[in-house]
Amino acid sequence: MCRMTAPHPSPSPAPASPRPVRKAVVPAAGLGTRFLPATKATPKEMLPVVDKPAIQYVVEEAAKAGLDDILMVTGRHKRAIEDHFDNAFELEQALSAKGDTVRLEAVRDPARLADIHHIRQGDPLGLGHAVLCARHHVGDQPFAVLLGDDLIDARETLLSRMLDVRDRRQGSVVALMEVDPSQVHRYGCAAVAPTGENGVVRVTGLVEKPSPQKAPSNYAVIGRYVLDPEVFDVLEKTAPGRGGEIQLTDALQELAAAGTVHGVVFDGLRYDTGDKADYLRTVVRIACERPDLGPEFTAWLKDFVAGLTQDGTGREESRAA
Ligand code: G1P
Repeated sequence: MCRMTAPHPSPSPAPASPRPVRKAVVPAAGLGTRFLPATKATPKEMLPVVDKPAIQYVVEEAAKAGLDDILMVTGRHKRAIEDHFDNAFELEQALSAKGDTVRLEAVRDPARLADIHHIRQGDPLGLGHAVLCARHHVGDQPFAVLLGDDLIDARETLLSRMLDVRDRRQGSVVALMEVDPSQVHRYGCAAVAPTGENGVVRVTGLVEKPSPQKAPSNYAVIGRYVLDPEVFDVLEKTAPGRGGEIQLTDALQELAAAGTVHGVVFDGLRYDTGDKADYLRTVVRIACERPDLGPEFTAWLKDFVAGLTQDGTGREESRAA
């Protein structure tokens, strides 16, 4: 059900981490139906956030936290992801001949971030199944899982904090964020108990996408996990849950009941690219903060907002532009 493809060699791997966790798994086999038709022939993970595909931000975050071995779990039509993290000989030659060193470096960067491997999730059986596909590659070591719909601002240190908690407390660690109760149905939701450590809780239970009435709290699981390899044995036995899919949340619920799951509470900058409106907000926010684009784009944006007509179309402003 899961097929390995050859790893791309990494010319300059990320700096060695003193931590035992070295591997990250990035599930990227979703169909991206919310973004059709853009995702008909392009993986949703390759949709640009300004000028980099969303998945590159995720790989950069993993590399920055010292995870230098990354396994992408991909599906059909995901060749573009493999190509993006590979060398592009002809393109590099053309840019080099033109002396365009800035673009040349930008083209070379993705393949240098880490040692990147790919495996195919033959059947789209859910996030839990995607993680299970990584079992052979990960082996008997703790590992991180990063979901591409959640981008964490590059200035944040969430993943490093989670790795630190894993070091000190063992078991598995999930990232939690307080959300408005009306939004818990979009996430895995955690029942928590204090640990006495600021920003770290014990997870006593987990429910995948509960109704607000059934939610144990407003702590949502956001897409970052550091998992103990014991999760694989549990996933092997996890029956399809919500939506008929094998849910990672259900496997973690079993570990939480055994007392081996902690949560790191995050209240920093997270960009949700999972639906269209959130994706647009993400692009605008990141564009505004980019030193090369921000000043001009922000000035335009202010004018645009000020010029929005009452029906919200901005037509007055567009004519003037
Ligand atoms: C997945 C997980 C969910 C988690 C969410 C975070 O859901 O199943 O528990 O809260 O990611 O983004 P998805 O958004 O893939 O439906």
